Amino acid sequence: MPIPDPSERPVVLAQVMAAFAVVVAAFVAATVYSESRASVIDESALSIAQNAAPSIEYLAGGRAGLRQLALAEDEYVDTFLAGGHMSPEAVAAARATLEGDVHAYLSLPRYPGEGAAWDDAKHTLDELDRALVDVVAAVPQGPAHLRQADANFRAQVEAVARAFTDDLQINADNAARLADRIQRVSRRRRRLVFGLDGVCGLATLATALLVLRLLRRHQRLARAYEEALERRADELEAFAGRIAHDVRNALVPISLSVSQLGRMELGDPPRQWIATADRGVWRLFELVEGLLAFAKAGAQPVPGEATDVAEVIRDVVLAQRPSADAAGCELRVSAVEPCRVGCNPGVLTSLVGNLIGNAIKHTDGPIRRVDVSATMRGPVVRMVVEDTGPGVPEHLRESIFQPFVRGGSAAVGVGLGLATVRRLAEGHGGRAGVDPVSGGGSRFWIELPRLDPAAGAAGSPGNPVTSRNPRPGCSA
Ligand SMILES: Nc1ncnc2c1ncn2[C@@H]1O[C@H](COP(=O)(O)OP(=O)(O)OP(=O)(O)O)[C@@H](O)[C@H]1O
Ligand SMILES: [Mg+2]
Repeated sequence: MPIPDPSERPVVLAQVMAAFAVVVAAFVAATVYSESRASVIDESALSIAQNAAPSIEYLAGGRAGLRQLALAEDEYVDTFLAGGHMSPEAVAAARATLEGDVHAYLSLPRYPGEGAAWDDAKHTLDELDRALVDVVAAVPQGPAHLRQADANFRAQVEAVARAFTDDLQINADNAARLADRIQRVSRRRRRLVFGLDGVCGLATLATALLVLRLLRRHQRLARAYEEALERRADELEAFAGRIAHDVRNALVPISLSVSQLGRMELGDPPRQWIATADRGVWRLFELVEGLLAFAKAGAQPVPGEATDVAEVIRDVVLAQRPSADAAGCELRVSAVEPCRVGCNPGVLTSLVGNLIGNAIKHTDGPIRRVDVSATMRGPVVRMVVEDTGPGVPEHLRESIFQPFVRGGSAAVGVGLGLATVRRLAEGHGGRAGVDPVSGGGSRFWIELPRLDPAAGAAGSPGNPVTSRNPRPGCSA
């Protein structure tokens, strides 16, 4: 089954981006529209406050002043008609009071259409002033003239009152129009902003749902990817088990032949070659047996097994020395404490062999050195393979322990060595990892639970030392 690719999520991602764009657009539109409508409302409110309202106030004051003026003039005329005498000061004072309001009104800005009424008010006021002057001038001319001038004055008072009323009406109409505009604009603004806020909310909800969908899809893909990798590793494990089984069967006749050769009377060099071949066949058996046992046990250690760490390290180093020499790499063993771990020698050979093989394979540069050690640390045995190679970049220090993950090394390989190391170590209750070495290089390490020396005593019934078990099919 193909491994799913977790990067396949373009459609939902595009939808998330689109929904997010809608959120931003709705927010910006709501803000811009609201601001523009707010300025219309401000402008109308300002016009009411600074023009219509004071105009109405001054015109109302003007009408009151006009009434006062008419009363003062009335008293003035009545006094003379009754044969008395009166100074025109009270009339002049009433006229001055009226002038205050009229002046204040005329200094305000005009609404469209107010100009004519404004001119009319000014004109009737001029006429009123002339009529008032005529009243004062008619006093010495006798009662008939005075009554005539008085009648003319009253007609002018009426005209001014009408002009004031017209101006009042215009300002009241404008105030009503502006108030209506404020009401309409703010109602429309509320509706639109409410609508845009709704769009914004829906788009936010859609974004959240899409992000959730994206996350779920990502999790599903990641799970499927992990499962596929696990399936592949399981298949490989089963395959390795089958291969190991077949290799063991093929090794049996070779092993028998080498044993037969070893019993023959031969000279020194051939005897050495046979001994080397015998050792190689034995190691192959150990390796194959260990892997076969591991595959069968599903990464669980076979209970009761014990392996001498120093012995396996010595054998692995011996076996790897030719390739180290060929690569110009100094392979040395420092501090190996006598101890044993609870696995079969094939498993330990695979663990140590992988790390030493990697160190030789991936180390380059003028100084090539690989150092192997094993020390006891409380309840565990720590085996370390340190090299002077290029080291492992920090971002790869975990992932290289995953199946099929390889670093930038040019050396051949499939990327299964370290994954096998970690699975074997963890399957046996241990750990595996890598640390950087100051000045370059890397320090790969494995920790396995240490066997209690008493429990692991050689030959004790429930805990045989399996590294020296007779080879399968070679008991003869
Ligand atoms: N001692 C080391 N120094 C530097 N890089 C290393 C070392 N050991 C492993 N690596 C890096 O880790 C990667 C994974 O190692 P691993 O043993 O899993 O695979 P491999 O050696 O490439 O192939 P194989 O499956 O044959 O072992 C390597 O490709 C290499 O880049
Ligand atoms: Mg390797």
